[in-house]
Amino acid sequence: MDKPLIVALDEGTSNVKAVAIDARGEVVAKASLPLRLATPKPGWVEQDGEALLAASFTVLRQVINEAGARHVAALAVSNQRETAIGWLRDGGRPLSPALSWQCSRAAPFCEQLRRDRQNEIIRSTTGLPVAPLFSAPKMRWLLDNTPQGQARAARGEICLGTIDAWLLWHLTGGEQFRCDYSNAARTQLVNLHTLEWDDAMLALFGIPRAALPEICPSAWRFGVTKGVDGIADGIPVLAMVGDSHAALYGHGLGRAGGIKATYGTGTSVMAPLPTPDMRITQLATTLAWHDGARAVYGLEGNIPHTGDGLAWMLQAMGHGTLDEAQRLEWFQRLPQSIASTDGVYFVPALTGSGAPWWDDQARGIICGLSRGSGPAHLVRAALEAIAYQIADVIEAMKAHPEFQLNTLMVDGGPTRNRWLMQFQADLLGCPVARSATAELSALGAGLLARKALGGLNDDDLLALLPDHETWQPDMARHARLQRDYLGWRDAVARAHWKAS
Ligand code: G3P
Repeated sequence: MDKPLIVALDEGTSNVKAVAIDARGEVVAKASLPLRLATPKPGWVEQDGEALLAASFTVLRQVINEAGARHVAALAVSNQRETAIGWLRDGGRPLSPALSWQCSRAAPFCEQLRRDRQNEIIRSTTGLPVAPLFSAPKMRWLLDNTPQGQARAARGEICLGTIDAWLLWHLTGGEQFRCDYSNAARTQLVNLHTLEWDDAMLALFGIPRAALPEICPSAWRFGVTKGVDGIADGIPVLAMVGDSHAALYGHGLGRAGGIKATYGTGTSVMAPLPTPDMRITQLATTLAWHDGARAVYGLEGNIPHTGDGLAWMLQAMGHGTLDEAQRLEWFQRLPQSIASTDGVYFVPALTGSGAPWWDDQARGIICGLSRGSGPAHLVRAALEAIAYQIADVIEAMKAHPEFQLNTLMVDGGPTRNRWLMQFQADLLGCPVARSATAELSALGAGLLARKALGGLNDDDLLALLPDHETWQPDMARHARLQRDYLGWRDAVARAHWKAS
């Protein structure tokens, strides 16, 4: 193979990385850069779209050069989902910072939709509950806060997109305005039964169709690079897919019966579905990916603050400057220094809560403190909160008649914490299997690009997937933890005091 490499970009919330993947699925070069988030008001979270582009292009350039541009067959993109950005079709300048998926500034608009009893029609059309997490209410906010936003969008002067569309537009010198099905499905504007922008949803959210990208399969010839400083023109972009969906693909979970959790800033717990089955109202039904031949759907619980809860706790304790290795050491040593949190719980509903509660008004709380509580209790409570929140989503998934949890497949930064992995296995009472690669979303996107290149069938692709390391549950501890889990549910109810 004269061009054996796929270079995959994984554009996340707190960092962006690029990896070069060879024909055996091995990562042979990588680079990453941190990204900044701004929180200008309580509940508002935004990101500089141009800084995000610059960091993405820097890591891509680095990896392409290290791997040798002449060996690169294609680019692939996996990206943070739901984050919305608007830009001028003429020149590509952003209208404002990108509104992060975590941002709850569109909560009043969502509240109005609920008061107008639009929740059920929106959910049965798009698979998603009304919540400021999704892109459509953010896009509406962007248009409402741009002079003549609606009219200019209707005239096609303004582009609205998810981060895949924003990256592709700039990677292709403004020639391609496209997104993939998985990202489009997270906007809340796609009809999950027809896989097209839905007229009723466009009207309800006030988004002109002329402002939206063309939707394509996740494995597709999206366009070729053009005019990016230091990156050769003509490299095809052959895959774009939401990061959580890419991880599901990277775990090899295309068929029913598997569940994965991607631990990042937030956590996405997802199980594949053969059809868009919307019977569990506490969870989202979504499109996992479209590989060019068929669509796979997903049942998903989005938890907005998991790794983010750890970051908040570190900052609150005055340790925000610890580097990655120090953080990991701290978060493994402190929880083991005590036998339990002694009834301390931290519910990190820092911009409201996501699945399975969906309460924009929820606030983070720490409860159960006593005179003996100290940093170890707080840190352990922040880690346990990740496992408990995942257990909450899995509890909701149990209502699905085909629910099966043999092993929870996991990936993402916080899964490097071995203490957390054992706690998760003990809490759920099932094995937890961590992917051997830390770059699972990038790998999933890279494999979709291989699919688009042709020549490999699904079994060939499965053979390229990485191994897993497994934590077995201690069932005696599992039984004891059920009591602590009840305490957690009590704490969660307290975080939702405004709704009660
Ligand atoms: O839904 C948001 C998710 O895609 C963000 O992923 O990895 O940046 O936490 P991450």
